[in-house]
Amino acid sequence: MKHLLKETDLSSTDLNRVFSLARELKKNRGKQTSSLLSGKTWVLIFSKESTRTRVSFEVGIRELGGNVIFLNKNDIQLGRGETVEDTARVLSRYAHGLVVRTYDHSDVERLASAGSIPVINALTDFLHPCQTLTDAFTAAERWAGPTGDLVESLKGRKIAFLGDTRFNMANSWMLTASMFGMKISLAGPTAYKPGEKINQLLQAGGRKIDYQVTTDPYEAVQGADIVYTDTWTSMGQESEAAARAIAMKPYTVTEKLFAAAKPDAFFMHCLPAHPGEEVVQAVLDNPRSIIFDEAENRLHVQKAIISHLTESK
Ligand code: CP
Ligand code: NVA
Repeated sequence: MKHLLKETDLSSTDLNRVFSLARELKKNRGKQTSSLLSGKTWVLIFSKESTRTRVSFEVGIRELGGNVIFLNKNDIQLGRGETVEDTARVLSRYAHGLVVRTYDHSDVERLASAGSIPVINALTDFLHPCQTLTDAFTAAERWAGPTGDLVESLKGRKIAFLGDTRFNMANSWMLTASMFGMKISLAGPTAYKPGEKINQLLQAGGRKIDYQVTTDPYEAVQGADIVYTDTWTSMGQESEAAARAIAMKPYTVTEKLFAAAKPDAFFMHCLPAHPGEEVVQAVLDNPRSIIFDEAENRLHVQKAIISHLTESK
């Protein structure tokens, strides 16, 4: 059984397949109907809010011909203490796949190992693989054009990640950069530097990673092809918002900071954005900001991921 719990669950062959499928699905959207998931039901279980992930998965599963059930964790017995394992075993008797957004990364791992249907990580505190795989696809479609090699176009590119370098988006970008042969430079306050767990995962894969951590945002963006940021206060960290806003202030992506990257660099953000905090409105509106392509591509890439997991069972 194949799952997508972390980026490195996909081999380089899988990545090529997912990207070319996503390109094809995007090109043909609305032109042909799919019956890939005909008669199948996927269940979404979300313990956190979502706009893009929920809607793109619901639309995508329907476009593949399947049915969807959306559940908030508190709608089901899981919220009252039924075990993750029993939930996985029961849902595996009804459904054909699970998409899960939660806090603790071990919950998606436990669902995957106790159940017998594919599990897709739709964000945990540790990783957000659907987002960074989509981000990489979004930059690649610009660099490779309509027919070029998407995966190859990422090799050797540099991404600068600014702000909270200790949470899901930074962790996922470290893994993603390592998989595509990209360089990554992370700039943020020392108290929010990458943790042990992501370093262990990077080392476990034995992957070579050109990875630099600095407190200087200008050093990080030097020579960058992508300038990336995320909210300073992620879901579940609301009580720390004031302290985070003070600590991360030097890492706001201003026009001056964005201009210090390569002249043709893209600005990217997983969204939701907080204008005036991690990024100024003028950068969000810059012609080289590709934030809404990223949001749109969640649909195409996730359809490709589901197709790939379903086909390779
Ligand atoms: N980027 C992202 O995952 O957005 P949502 O929280 O709206 O799903
Ligand atoms: N780091 C953010 C990402 C939102 C898509 C969060 O976890 O809230």
